[in-house]
Amino acid sequence: MEFSRDIKIAPSILAADFAALGQEVRDVEDNGADWIHVDVMDGHFVPNISLGPAICAAIRPHIKTVMDVHLMISPADQYLEAFAKAGADVLTVHAEAGPHLHRSLQYIRDLGPKVGVALNPATPADVLEHVIDEIDLVCVMTVNPGFGGQSFLPMMDKVRRLCEMIGDRPVHIEIDGGVTPETAPLVAAAGADVLVAGSAVYKGADAAEYGRLIKEIRSAAERET
Ligand code: DX5
Ligand code: ZN
Repeated sequence: MEFSRDIKIAPSILAADFAALGQEVRDVEDNGADWIHVDVMDGHFVPNISLGPAICAAIRPHIKTVMDVHLMISPADQYLEAFAKAGADVLTVHAEAGPHLHRSLQYIRDLGPKVGVALNPATPADVLEHVIDEIDLVCVMTVNPGFGGQSFLPMMDKVRRLCEMIGDRPVHIEIDGGVTPETAPLVAAAGADVLVAGSAVYKGADAAEYGRLIKEIRSAAERET
């Protein structure tokens, strides 16, 4: 995984057909997806249950790009090894998921994946002040986590603040929730480079339509960078 600030579109398989995940992953990758975003929900940290390490391991051979695993689970530490072994390229924990964020980040670093931290809408950028050198990605939630298909909450101030904090460090800024061709330019202009899109991609009727929808989001974002 080479670092770049180019816009990357990461379809979230939360909105895909769970009975055909391998095909759903190939269909978006063959049609322009840069990363595959995998949403893990535990019914405790968030009010929904999605999938776990076994499904991650099962879809891993179908992913040629980057498996970007977003853990919406608490506690997270005891499961990090399982997700690393399942083949996560990026492993993201929530800053709100436990009292010892620094320890969780170091643990991910030791396990091997790139290290991500997600921030709920109510959590300020400043919680990352003392861990900014430990991370490879910040995921700015633009919905309250738990469900796909919710409307976008504007967090452009937070993205701009993160850009200042990050400076020239190789840290991605990812946007997760409510990304569409209308909202993508707003966050791209503020400095985000990874755009997660669930329903806005998988609402397509077939693979060709996934490709058109990915392209629309990318062009809208690139107009602002
Ligand atoms: C929200 C998840 C998101 C979600 C995005 O809890 O982390 O990744 O699936 O879905 P859309 O793009 O439909 O808002
Ligand atoms: Zn997510």
